[in-house]
Amino acid sequence: MLDFFMAIAKWLQNTWWALDISGSTWAYPFVQLTHFTGLSLWIGTNLSLDLRLLGVGSKRQTAGQLSEALFAWNWTGFCVAVLGGFMLFSSAATKYIPNSAFEIKLGILVPLGVLWHILVQWHARKREQGDTVSAFGKLAGFVELLLWLGVITAAVSIPNYDTH
Ligand code: HEM
Repeated sequence: MLDFFMAIAKWLQNTWWALDISGSTWAYPFVQLTHFTGLSLWIGTNLSLDLRLLGVGSKRQTAGQLSEALFAWNWTGFCVAVLGGFMLFSSAATKYIPNSAFEIKLGILVPLGVLWHILVQWHARKREQGDTVSAFGKLAGFVELLLWLGVITAAVSIPNYDTH
């Protein structure tokens, strides 16, 4: 299985865009900026909804209204973050494939976080249209907070597990 992923990683690392990023001094920081800009939007809008579900901050909008208002920004942020993350990954894919922190981030936590977020968003829009939030809504928001904290912890640990 590892051989299969390494073969794809080798191919990816030699694509024109990956060579352009790894061969330039300014392209990598620019792509990093793209990843972080997308993440700021994605994590920021997720956090706003999770905190509203937990009853923290302004209650002018219900959790359902807030989720609807942030929906487009939320998924735009996600698309930009994934694009930036994919470009960063392409530039040194064979370095990331055997990295345990990267494996945990992308193989477990990000898919789980995205699925959980879809559930939180759906629940908020369909079931949390009142001023008070249900016990399930609060729990769902709290679990989502923990999941993204886990993703960020795994992401910042990637350099510690670099075997190159
Ligand atoms: C959407 C959820 C994601 C979050 C919250 C996230 C978070 C982060 C953070 C905080 C860093 C900075 C690590 C540091 O410099 O200390 C990072 C770096 C990185 N991310 Fe993501 N990321 C996400 C998605 C992705 C995806 C989908 C990919 C790949 C397709 C990806 C690939 C990378 C790579 C390759 C790095 C550079 C790691 C390094 O060399 O230090 N990320 N990410």
